Amino acid sequence: MTQGSPLPTARSANAARKAVIPVAGLGTRFLPATKAVPKELLPVVDKPALQYIVEEAVRAGLAELLMVTGRGKDAIADHFDRQPELEAALEKKGDAARLSAVRHVSELAQMHFVRQGEPQGLGHAVLQAASYVGDETFAVLLGDDLIDARDRLLERMLDVQQHRGGSVVALLEVPLQEISKYGCASVTATDEEDVWTITDLVEKPDPDVAPSTLAVIGRYVLSPTIFGALRETPPGSGGEIQLTDGIRALVARGEAVHGVVFRGRRYDTGDRLDYLKAVVRLAVDREDIGPEFRSWLDGFVAGGA
Ligand code: G1P
Repeated sequence: MTQGSPLPTARSANAARKAVIPVAGLGTRFLPATKAVPKELLPVVDKPALQYIVEEAVRAGLAELLMVTGRGKDAIADHFDRQPELEAALEKKGDAARLSAVRHVSELAQMHFVRQGEPQGLGHAVLQAASYVGDETFAVLLGDDLIDARDRLLERMLDVQQHRGGSVVALLEVPLQEISKYGCASVTATDEEDVWTITDLVEKPDPDVAPSTLAVIGRYVLSPTIFGALRETPPGSGGEIQLTDGIRALVARGEAVHGVVFRGRRYDTGDRLDYLKAVVRLAVDREDIGPEFRSWLDGFVAGGA
C-alpha cells in the first residue's frame, strides 16, 4: 500500500460482494480504433484495460460482477467467456502458458450483463443495476480508471465503508485547471488522514467556482439508497443523469458519504496520452518483457533509438 493507511480489517457478513462496471461509453476519444472494438478491450500491454478492472474487483473480494453494456459491446462478454476452440488449439500446440492465461479470464468471476438501452449518463447506467444489486452495499468501478494493482484503493474504500457505513467515493488531488473534467468534492477532515467527510459534490465545475481540487475518480462503494436518489435525479451536466448528482442527494439527506484520498498510481486509459503512459509504466515493470523494454526505452529517451 502506498496509502500509509491502516491495515485492512476483516470485513463482516454485510460487506459489499457485488461490483457494477459501466461499459456502455462510446469511446470517441479513441476513434477510429474504437469504431468496431469496445474501448474497454484496447490492450494495455497484452491484457484489455477492462481485465485489469475485473481483476481489481476480484482481488478486493467482489466476485460477482455486473457489466452495464450497450450496442457494439458484445466482444466484452466474449472476452470473459470460455473459448473451447482456442483452448483446444493451444492445448494441441502444448502452449500451457497461454492456455492458462485464456482460461484464467473465463474463471475470474461470476459475470452478468445488462444493457443500458439509450445511454443517458453514468447515473442512468448505475440505475440499470438496481434489481441485480438489491438491498446491498455495492461497488462501482469505471473502466477508464486503471488503478495500479500495487496500490490497494478499493480495499481501503471497502474497509472505510465497513467502519463508517454509508457510501465512499475515491478522491484524487488534481491541478485546478483539470477539475472541470471531474466530479469535485467539498470536504471536512476526519480523524483519519486519508478519509474526508463529503459535505457537497458538483459535477465538472468550472475551475473558478470549484469548491476544491479534490476530484472524484472512478471507484465508488455505494449504499443501495443511491437507486432511489438516482430515480429522482434530473439530467445535469451534459444533459445526462449524473452519478455525482445522485450521491450529492444522499449527502443532502444527511446520509454518510466519505472520500478516501488516493495517492497511488492511476491512469486514465480513456485519454490517449495517459493510455500510452499506462502501457509504458506497466510494461517496464513486467518480469518477462520489462528488462528488454526498459533498456530500449533508455536508449530511445537518450535519443539513440
Ligand atoms: C465520470 C464522473 C465524474 C468522475 C469521472 C472519473 O466522468 O461523472 O464525476 O470524476 O468519471 O473518471 P466521465 O469521465 O465519464 O466524464
